[in-house]
Amino acid sequence: MICKLYRLPGWRKSCLGAMTNMYDQAANLRRIVQQTQPTAVSGKRETRQARVIAVTSGKGGVGKTNLTVNLALALSELGQKVVVIDADLGMANVDVLLGTTPKYTLVQLLDADVPIQEILLEGPGGIRFLPGASGLYRLANLEAGRCQYLLEQVALLDEWADYILLDTGAGIGQTVLQFVLAADEIVLVTTPEPTALTDAYGMLKTYLAHQGSARIHVIINRALDEAEGFSVLRKFSLACERFLTIRLEHLGIVCDDRQVLQAVRQQVPFFLAYPNGVATQNLRHIAAQLQQEKVMLSQKGARGFFRKFLDMMMWR
Ligand SMILES: Nc1ncnc2c1ncn2[C@@H]1O[C@H](COP(=O)(O)OP(=O)(O)O)[C@@H](O)[C@H]1O
Ligand SMILES: [Mg+2]
Repeated sequence: MICKLYRLPGWRKSCLGAMTNMYDQAANLRRIVQQTQPTAVSGKRETRQARVIAVTSGKGGVGKTNLTVNLALALSELGQKVVVIDADLGMANVDVLLGTTPKYTLVQLLDADVPIQEILLEGPGGIRFLPGASGLYRLANLEAGRCQYLLEQVALLDEWADYILLDTGAGIGQTVLQFVLAADEIVLVTTPEPTALTDAYGMLKTYLAHQGSARIHVIINRALDEAEGFSVLRKFSLACERFLTIRLEHLGIVCDDRQVLQAVRQQVPFFLAYPNGVATQNLRHIAAQLQQEKVMLSQKGARGFFRKFLDMMMWR
């Protein structure tokens, strides 16, 4: 190889040299991602791991952000500690629903040694919120030192949180897919509309084609009533079982409720604005259902999630 390289014209040699450097750098980063252990943070091996759940959909506008924020509140009401991460790069709007203006985002973790505690916002109802926004694009080009710092900081989330809910974008774009592939569990949101159901099915198909192996839950949002919601849920999961050979967890349904829209306009989560509303009661059932599930043996926590995500970004 060296001999061959030696005989190449100058420009080719420098080109190959640059490529070798690039590969060395990438390999170095991957080693850091794989080696960063929680011991670097706490001085002792941390075994506690949060349930990392990516909320996603095939079609946009089906209610992901609303369900993520309000599910976080419903879990918090059950005594769980929940962090919501805004991972919708195109339409990051968890902050809008919470009526807050974040001072920092994940970008600060990438640029300076800002502790993650300073970036985590205290939301209503005891939940915490990590604004991600466009900062997440830059994870693809992190240098080794920043990468290690980020992993050490996110490992702290496992110490505090029981649940980490990621509000992702819709569809099968590469970054959405990577979030979903890195998560231990998925909540797939769809409405009963045929277009939303077809896109949800397509999303699952793509996910499986990429060897996705998470526990997959489904929520039917904006059902006309419970009968319609559960009927659509049954039919959708039967189709997935038959044609994609996967089993879906029936998390539940949320009815179409005017109070959701009213709450959005007030920039207050509907769970808090209308504590006895239909959608709120539906979400209480969903949170209870989630809470009674068995812990997955393969659960990787926040640290495992970010490691896998960074690893995929580096192979892009
Ligand atoms: N259960 C519901 N009942 C009535 N309207 C809803 C419901 N869920 C969502 N919506 C409406 O759909 C809009 C889009 O929801 P959003 O959570 O922003 O979707 P996504 O994050 O998937 O793009 C909300 O602003 C709200 O008006
Ligand atoms: Mg959204």
